[in-house]
Amino acid sequence: ARLVVLISGSGSNLKALLEATADPAYGAVVVAVGADRDGIAGLEIASAAGIPTFVDSVKAYPTRDDWDAALTGHVAEHRPDLVISAGFLKLAGKQFLDAFGDRYINTHNALLPAFPGIHGPRDALAYGVKVAGATLFFVDAGVDTGPIIAQTVVPVLDDDTEDTLTERIKVAERVQLVDHVGKLVRDGWTIQDRKVRIP
Ligand code: GRF
Repeated sequence: ARLVVLISGSGSNLKALLEATADPAYGAVVVAVGADRDGIAGLEIASAAGIPTFVDSVKAYPTRDDWDAALTGHVAEHRPDLVISAGFLKLAGKQFLDAFGDRYINTHNALLPAFPGIHGPRDALAYGVKVAGATLFFVDAGVDTGPIIAQTVVPVLDDDTEDTLTERIKVAERVQLVDHVGKLVRDGWTIQDRKVRIP
């Protein structure tokens, strides 16, 4: 299967996927990496692995719709079976969801539906929850609202800071992402009544 990975940052999830896809038995390869900004470590990881990259910055287009069209086109060029948002900080628009909505997944660093948005670990810590974690889900038109594929729980420790909790979640998140992308591409999946079934 062909994976396109979208990133905005350090690319640790991307790196984990690249390591997994090095084994042909995994059943998928990363065919391109897209970003919404230049100069991020994740793009260097992709280039070092010889993977084509593209950057579509919202600022480079007159309107959000134009950006959405450009991103959709660039992703489509690589004919993905699955598009993975791995720390991609932009909400895809209508054109993107029309094209890839049935095969676009995102990994989020909180146990949805609690703590959507870009500060999952910080918000969890501020609330005082005793467990946190990561959620892998199919993206729909809402913010972190789509059908859930998998969740992994990690403890919140008394002396956690935003950084220590974020790091603990990321370790679990990478394992979850690699496991479930493999299952999705090898075993196929269906969505019924907003519930994801992996045979
Ligand atoms: C992930 O924890 C993701 O949930 C959050 O940003 C992080 C991305 O990290 N939105 P990386 O770029 O894969 O290292």
